[in-house]
Amino acid sequence: MSHEKVETNVGLLAILVILVISIGGLVEIVPLFFLKETTEPVKGLKPYTALQLEGRDVYIREGCYLCHSQMIRPFRAETERYGHYSVAGEFVYDHPFQWGSKRTGPDLARVGGRYSDDWHRVHLTNPRLVVPESNMPGFPWLEENKLTGESTPDKLKAMRTLGVPYTDEDIAGATAAVKDKTEMDAIIAYLQVLGTSIKAGR
Ligand code: HEC
Repeated sequence: MSHEKVETNVGLLAILVILVISIGGLVEIVPLFFLKETTEPVKGLKPYTALQLEGRDVYIREGCYLCHSQMIRPFRAETERYGHYSVAGEFVYDHPFQWGSKRTGPDLARVGGRYSDDWHRVHLTNPRLVVPESNMPGFPWLEENKLTGESTPDKLKAMRTLGVPYTDEDIAGATAAVKDKTEMDAIIAYLQVLGTSIKAGR
């Protein structure tokens, strides 16, 4: 009898369907907040330095994530090309994470240490100088834009409210750490640390 009620009443059916899907979703999603592997940093993971954090902001501003992912999937073709697949514990200090999904260019999750700083400097200024067939745009203005460091302490503070373990000294020294560096220095510092915690930690 009650079954007939559900089948003949669209409103009731919709409510019950939503209820069932919500429970399914909760059962899948909620445990992730409590699992160690997804909430604890992998061994060797350090918060971004002030300069790396500024570099991350340049990465976001320039839209690098529109062509580059930072997420190596656990498939052989991926791990042979890029290295160890990405694990959740590598991203606990990333707010927001830069996983992305569009790969016009290669994944950058483990690009840290793959090239020299000089290679990046030339490549970011004009990619075709080092990769002739590249269709990546150049970002020559990064070399000209100097960081003042005025807002850097606030950026670290904001990260701290999200759980990144910056000390008072980190925050106090943030301006001095980036002042007069260029945006190019910052984004290279950021690229060079990507994915290195696992290489170092395992
Ligand atoms: C329009 C798409 C596009 C955008 C935007 C873009 N890239 Fe690229 N990127 C590529 C392509 C395609 C390649 C592969 C050819 C090459 O090496 O230049 C590449 C290669 C790279 C590489 C070398 C990776 C490797 O493993 O060889 C790095 C590092 C890189 N990009 C960083 C950046 C950064 C940082 C930005 C933002 C400032 C950026 N890219 C923006 C398309 C893009």
